[in-house]
Amino acid sequence: MAANETAAQYLTAKAFCMTSAIWFAGATSFGMIAAGYLFAPDFLANIGLIHFGKVRPIHVNLVLFGFVTPGLLAAAFYYFPKLLRTDLYSEKLGVFTAILWNITLPIAIVSLAMGYSQGREYAELPWAVDIMVGVLFLLVIINFVMTIRQRKESILYVSIWYVTAAVVLTASTYLLGNVVWRPDTGALLGIPDAILLWFYGHNVFGLLLTPMGLGVAYYVLPISTRSPLYSHTLSLIGFWSLIVVYTHIGTHHLLQVPVPTWLKTIAIVDSVAMVIPVMVVLINLWYTIRGKLGTIHTDIGAKFVFTGMVYYFFVNIQGSMMALPVVQRVTHFNNWVVAHAHIGVFGFAGLVALGGLYFILPRITGKPLYSKFLADLQYWLVLIGITGFAIVLTIVGLIQGQAWINGETIYRVLPSIQPYFVARAMLGTTIMVGAYIGVYNIFKSLFYNPGATTT
Ligand code: HEM
Ligand code: HEM
Repeated sequence: MAANETAAQYLTAKAFCMTSAIWFAGATSFGMIAAGYLFAPDFLANIGLIHFGKVRPIHVNLVLFGFVTPGLLAAAFYYFPKLLRTDLYSEKLGVFTAILWNITLPIAIVSLAMGYSQGREYAELPWAVDIMVGVLFLLVIINFVMTIRQRKESILYVSIWYVTAAVVLTASTYLLGNVVWRPDTGALLGIPDAILLWFYGHNVFGLLLTPMGLGVAYYVLPISTRSPLYSHTLSLIGFWSLIVVYTHIGTHHLLQVPVPTWLKTIAIVDSVAMVIPVMVVLINLWYTIRGKLGTIHTDIGAKFVFTGMVYYFFVNIQGSMMALPVVQRVTHFNNWVVAHAHIGVFGFAGLVALGGLYFILPRITGKPLYSKFLADLQYWLVLIGITGFAIVLTIVGLIQGQAWINGETIYRVLPSIQPYFVARAMLGTTIMVGAYIGVYNIFKSLFYNPGATTT
């Protein structure tokens, strides 16, 4: 137990909980605008600030840096002191980081809406915002590393390994991938730029969201089932194999681009080898919680995390297949990839982030959730939404992929995919409603919760 469990404690975790909940709602609202354009291109026509080319990167940056990352950080700011048996190095620094985080995001939105985009996927943000993002990660690193330094627990549990690695590696690859030494373009020239961009781009999923998500899963699942971790050795094998393998696979985004063949070969081989770090983690967690699924079902936080880990299994099996050139001939350049992206970033990392929030909320407030019913409702809304997304967008991808192979002209394909885009927008509505319910429930749980004072 950490010392001095007072109301002032966990302020950082609380601030990041609220940050994640609010930006989840904001990000899905922008996603809905983008989805609207895809079935009704004249939708909101002539409003320059929010046409598709601007709304799309706003949506993507907000889900990555507004919703999922802060959500996973909220849980980390809670379990760091717990696992290290000390207080967080500085709650003041943590709250300052959260405030700066919430200043950076609106600046990012306004910049993109006004057209200040560097036009590279996942690296659209202009130079000044890149620097702010770098500073944010630096502040988080200082808080984490200093907490580790003052720890009273000598053993570093694997969640600490994952999260510390995630923020340290992301701080460096973010600045590298955004080519911050060239403020005007934020880019290198030609093919080397594409290689660098996708090295960084894949690291956002592989070295930021994945390890932070696994850190939360490794914390929440054993505690909620009251089971000791099945194997610490497996947890370290999983950690190191992830670091070794995931860092080499970015070029699988460029298999149809004239990059050196050896680079493509490494990317393909390591993409398939990803099955090692993934299965090691899943086997370890499965043996930890085996026979305790009933307990998980009764804990909304653990339920979100468990479901996220099921999606983790699927996204990785799917991803390894998508790295094979023969499969990519059908799946590249179409909505199959968008389905995979939502399965990974939302189905896995997003659900685990929500699980982390709901798991820590009663613990940081000392009271039960404001409404378990609303949390359950949100669970089902987002689960129906993301599962529907996965099915609908995969079908669209297959239609587009087959049409591409058959040399079909694009305008003849559009009518056949339009109904699916209508369905996607309807499913998106359920997710967005779930997100707004989450804002209400999390806000009430934090600030207006008359519940009993139990932990
Ligand atoms: C075994 C692990 C994984 C492998 C081998 C893998 C493989 C791939 C491949 C090959 C692509 C490119 C597809 C194409 O352009 O044709 C891709 C795209 C993508 N992956 Fe994964 N994936 C894995 C796990 C994940 C996870 C865990 C996440 C999220 C946390 C994720 C998020 C994404 C996203 C967002 C894209 C879309 C990138 C874009 O905008 O083009 N992936 N993945
Ligand atoms: C209301 C719910 C949502 C809707 C309607 C929606 C809609 C969209 C749309 C229309 C795109 C652009 C796809 C394209 O260019 O063809 C997109 C991209 C993306 N969205 Fe969402 N989205 C929603 C929720 C989310 C959530 C919650 C996450 C993650 C936590 C997410 C992650 C992404 C990612 C990573 C991409 C980039 C995909 C790629 O480049 O392949 N979305 N979304």
